[in-house]
Amino acid sequence: MNVSDSERIARSLAPLGYVPALSADQADLVVVNTCSVRAKAEQKAFSLLGQLAAVKVRRPELVVVVAGCVAQQEGERIRERAPHVDLVLGTRAVHRLGALLMRLRTHSRTLVDVGMDEPPDEPVETPGAADRNGVSRFVTVMRGCDNFCAYCVVPYVRGREISRSPEAILHEIRGLCAAGVREVTLLGQNVNSYGAKEGICSFAQLLEQVNTVKDLARIRFTTSHPKDLTAELIRSFASLEKLCAHIHLPVQSGSNRVLACMNRRYTREHYLDNVAKLRNSHRQISVTSDIIVGFPGETRTDFEATLGLMQQVEFDSVFAFMYSDRPNTPARLLSDKVPEREKRERLHAVLALQDGITAAKHQSLVGSVQEVLAEGFSKRPAAAGAAEGFGQQWTGRTRGNKIVHFFDAGSDANADFIRPGRLVQVRIERALAHSLWGRLERDPAGP
Ligand code: 5AD
Ligand code: SF4
Repeated sequence: MNVSDSERIARSLAPLGYVPALSADQADLVVVNTCSVRAKAEQKAFSLLGQLAAVKVRRPELVVVVAGCVAQQEGERIRERAPHVDLVLGTRAVHRLGALLMRLRTHSRTLVDVGMDEPPDEPVETPGAADRNGVSRFVTVMRGCDNFCAYCVVPYVRGREISRSPEAILHEIRGLCAAGVREVTLLGQNVNSYGAKEGICSFAQLLEQVNTVKDLARIRFTTSHPKDLTAELIRSFASLEKLCAHIHLPVQSGSNRVLACMNRRYTREHYLDNVAKLRNSHRQISVTSDIIVGFPGETRTDFEATLGLMQQVEFDSVFAFMYSDRPNTPARLLSDKVPEREKRERLHAVLALQDGITAAKHQSLVGSVQEVLAEGFSKRPAAAGAAEGFGQQWTGRTRGNKIVHFFDAGSDANADFIRPGRLVQVRIERALAHSLWGRLERDPAGP
C-alpha cells in the first residue's frame, strides 16, 4: 500500500512539472512517504528526516513533505520533532498534494492535512514514468481496515474500510491496459471484505469482472484475511484464467491462544483447512504469509506451534517480524512482553526454517518450464557461470510470484522476440535463495 501511495504521489507531481531528482541534495522537493506498521520503519523515517534537516540548512528553499502513516499518526506533533518539515500529508490527503504545495508558497509555518474525508472514488489515474515498470501496476480497490488486530496500527492511521466502485476500478484497469499494462495487483488491507459494507458485490465477483478486461494478462491481489476467505474466492483460482495462483494469507501465529489475544478471529485449524481447500482448488497455488514472533505473552510452546504450522503448510515464502509496540493499539498495554533477545532468536529460527523450505521449493522447480511475464532488464548481476554469448539478462515473475532472471539466446533473428509485457516460457535451470534463474524457451507461437 505504501509503495502504491509513493507511485500515486510521484504521478500527481508530474503534471506540476516535477521530474525525479537523482538525490535529495539536488531536489527542490522531497516527500518522505512513511510507514508506521512497525517501530523500525518509523525510526528510519525520522532518521531520514534528520538528514534532510542538514540539507535544508544549506538550501532553505528545499520543500520537505512527510506523507503516509507516520504523518497521519503524528499530525501536528511532527512540527515539534522535525520543525524543518513544510507539509504533513495524511494517508487520505494524497489527492490534495498539488493544492497544498500551492498554499505553501504563501504559508510560513508547517501545513498539516490529516483529514480523513477522502471520496471513495478518487480520480482515475493513468500510468506514469514514476511506476515500478510499465507492465505491472497496483490498483487500489479499498482503503482502510475494520479489523483491529490487537498489535496493528493500520485502522488508526488508514481509517475505516471504504471500497471503490467496480465501475471506477474497471475504468482504471482498462485505461492502464490501453497504455500497455499487462498485470494488475488489486490492493486492500483485507480484500476479502471488499464491498461488504457498501453492499456492492463480493470480491470474487469483482475478480470475475476484471478477468474480462481485454489485453490484461494477469490478475493478482493482496491481502486476504483468513477469517474472511470465502469458498467463492477459493473457487476463483480454478475458474478465472487470468488470476495468478498465489495467495498472501497472513497467519501471524500458529498458536490458538496467541491468535485469540491478537484478535485474529480464526483458529489454527481453520487456517489449515483454508490452505487445504486452496490447494484442492489449484494444485500449484503459492501460499505466502506474515508471521509475528514475540507477541506479548507468547511462550516457547506458543512459538513452537508457529514453527510446527510452518512445517505443516510449507509456505512458498514468509515475511517474519519481531513484535513491536505501536501507538493506540491494545497490545501495547499488555504485560508479559517478550525480551528483545528472545524475539530476535525466534525471528532467526523462523527465517532459518523458511529458508530451508524455500530452497527445497525452488529446487523442485529446476527443469520445469514456467510462464513468466517479462518486466525488463534485470538489475541483478548475471548469474555466475552463465554461458557467454548470451544477451541481456531479463527479469519477471512466474504465476506463483517467484522472481525469475533469465537470458535470451541473443541471436539476431530473435532480437525482438522478448520485450517488456510479453508472456514467455522459461526453462528453470538454477535455484537461488530468493529467485530462480533460467533460459528462454523459443515458442514463437506464444502470446
Ligand atoms: N509488530 C510487528 N509486526 C507487525 N505487523 C503489523 N503490526 C505489527 C507490530 N506491531 C506485521 C503483520 C502484518 C504485517 C504487514 O506487519 O505481520 O501482517
Ligand atoms: Fe492490521 Fe489486522 Fe487490518 Fe491487517 S487485518 S491491516 S493486521 S488490523
